Amino acid sequence: MLRLHNVSARYNMLGSYVNAVDRVDFEVRKSEIFGIAGESGCGKSTLLKVMYDLIQYPLEISEGSVEIHAAGKDGKPVVYRHGDIHRSWWKVISYVPQGAMHVMNPVARVKSQFFDAISKYHEKKSAKQLEAEIAGYLRELELPPEVLQAFPHQLSGGMRQRVLIALATFLHPDIVLADEPTTALDVVVQRGILTMLAKVQKKMKNSMVIVSHDMGVHYQITHRMGIMYAGQMIEIGPTEQIFESPQHPYTKMLIGALPKVGDNSQKEGIPGTPPSLKNPPPGCRFAARCPVATDLCRAVEPARVAVGHEHMASCHLLEPIAAERRAHHG
Ligand SMILES: Nc1ncnc2c1ncn2[C@@H]1O[C@H](COP(=O)(O)OP(=O)(O)OP(=O)(O)O)[C@@H](O)[C@H]1O
Ligand SMILES: [Mg+2]
Repeated sequence: MLRLHNVSARYNMLGSYVNAVDRVDFEVRKSEIFGIAGESGCGKSTLLKVMYDLIQYPLEISEGSVEIHAAGKDGKPVVYRHGDIHRSWWKVISYVPQGAMHVMNPVARVKSQFFDAISKYHEKKSAKQLEAEIAGYLRELELPPEVLQAFPHQLSGGMRQRVLIALATFLHPDIVLADEPTTALDVVVQRGILTMLAKVQKKMKNSMVIVSHDMGVHYQITHRMGIMYAGQMIEIGPTEQIFESPQHPYTKMLIGALPKVGDNSQKEGIPGTPPSLKNPPPGCRFAARCPVATDLCRAVEPARVAVGHEHMASCHLLEPIAAERRAHHG
């Protein structure tokens, strides 16, 4: 469906580079919700821009490739590669950027924002017909069609986000990318947005990629997920397995930081800060904050190893852990 082959992307800062995405390699499968997690600044939004092929100065892809495999009009397979993925925007892949609900055009009614985005795909339809179809789709998503007449500031943040999700999914794209769709919304509204995304996905059977720094969001809605740290995807696997048996020390700490129901103790977060992406240290990027790091970790970059069914992580200490477990379970 969507495949990244060892992709690196960086911001060209006139003489130095911010290496925001470093050799990321994974795929998004048909009809799955894939989650991308990690602390602020680890490269989640940059990775999403790479997937959407929204590569504008100072951002550039420095190695690797991105491919989208879709079905063309006649049912024949079509491959879009980075550089021409924009030809598939809205119809094959759509994108709800981070903070999009705050940057909707304030002086345009919701209706005209829909029309601007999608009317070129419906040239044969009259404005009236198209508006009726959009209203019908909003109703399907349990949104009041009256929002079409509103200006963005007249809608709550949650409603604006729902409208943007409706817009991004109206043409039934194969892949929907959503960057922090629930951030800055209160918990009840968050849950409503996640329910809406899950419903749309179930109905359209498309693939979704949800970026969130909130592990709770991933637990609730994603099927598989990747954990990013300092530009790299350091663990990837089925969400259930990641939560049940996280392998990378960073993932363990992220999950340990998740508040549990009925537990009112103060969560500490992970001490320390991630390394600079301008000049990352040799070895494992997490070593400086890792409670179990060794000299090897500080010197040599760990390779990605399989740690379970479809579950992989990059850590030098995993082999012994896996062996210990095998011994434990006989
Ligand atoms: N336009 C830009 N120019 C230069 N550096 C940038 C630019 N945008 C992002 N960066 C840097 O790239 C790195 C990754 O940023 P990115 O926005 O992808 O992180 P993120 O994981 O989405 O963070 P957040 O959770 O805060 O949204 C950070 O170090 C950031 O400062
Ligand atoms: Mg971001």
